[in-house]
Amino acid sequence: MSEYGITRSGPAFMHDDVNPAVNPILWQDDTLVLLDQRRLPDEVTHVVCRTAAEVEAAIRDMVVRGAPAIGIAAAYGVALAARSWHASGTPDWRDGLAGDIARLRAARPTAVNLMWALDRMSAAIPEGPGDPFPVLAAHARGLHEADLAGNRRMGDFGAALIAPGAGVLTHCNAGALATAGYGTALGVIRSGWRRGVIDAVFATETRPWLQGARLTAFELLADGIDVTLIADGAAAHLMASGRVQWVVTGADRIAANGDTANKIGTYALATLARAHGIRFMVAAPLSTIDRATASGADIPIEHRTADELTHLGGRAVAAPGVHALNPVFDVTPAHLIDALATEKGVVERPDAAAIAALFES
Ligand code: MRU
Repeated sequence: MSEYGITRSGPAFMHDDVNPAVNPILWQDDTLVLLDQRRLPDEVTHVVCRTAAEVEAAIRDMVVRGAPAIGIAAAYGVALAARSWHASGTPDWRDGLAGDIARLRAARPTAVNLMWALDRMSAAIPEGPGDPFPVLAAHARGLHEADLAGNRRMGDFGAALIAPGAGVLTHCNAGALATAGYGTALGVIRSGWRRGVIDAVFATETRPWLQGARLTAFELLADGIDVTLIADGAAAHLMASGRVQWVVTGADRIAANGDTANKIGTYALATLARAHGIRFMVAAPLSTIDRATASGADIPIEHRTADELTHLGGRAVAAPGVHALNPVFDVTPAHLIDALATEKGVVERPDAAAIAALFES
């Protein structure tokens, strides 16, 4: 990736208690340093972003991915943009900054944490002629730290629902790598593992990008949590065997009525879970809830390029010339969700009223 600088020297990590190997976002010497998730688990390398355009490309190309993580990266991108536009001395630097924010907003469409973080950063742009960078960098750091703290609370709330001896199945990567640290779904699994209530963790491969095989397996093993990989198509068989009591996933956008967009295949898992009498939990921060979107039908679903399906590691795995459809998220209807774990507590059987109440308490 010639457009990025890559460092292999050990950067200064922000949180001492986040395993450096799975810490996706670092703010070092007023520069954004992102763990390159495209290269995991083979290589732990980092991409340095000094401009908003570099942050936008890193989000679009999935150097950084996962709903909360892309929001945090974009927040730092706003600080970087403000620094360069202010330093340019142009009188209409605020217009230039607004253009960069609009481009960051368009980097990926489904995860609403991106828009949430950019709205907060936009509201934090100081008035007056002074350099906005210190205020905005501190604000981005505040969002970063709040996400980590929220994940720890969410993990404990979610884990409290799990009875001892449970097998848990998760999909995609909703872990430290997808957040500021600790994770949402993997936060529940981390907390449940530490409490001793989870006996077995299963991770789907998560075709086509293999977030489960490459990232979830990597970060759970790095934390000493035993995890067993399954092919996506093996989920029904596993559920029928009686070895799974909970499916726990993250979310990219939760509509006001509780319908939840998450990685493609989540809807199939929720349907299968209901058919097998297995409970289904979504773990997500309030920043993933989009109260302006009434239902799942209104959530924009990202489609990525066909080569993600037709090629694996740069090698063709499909018949040349085949058409491919690659929606990378789907929507699980709220009625299939037994529990929503957030940093403010758990909502059982989420619906419009219960979600509204979360914001009022
Ligand atoms: O395409 P990705 O890897 O960004 O998709 C990530 C997911 O779908 C996660 O499950 C979701 O963002 C929750 S992350 C805490």
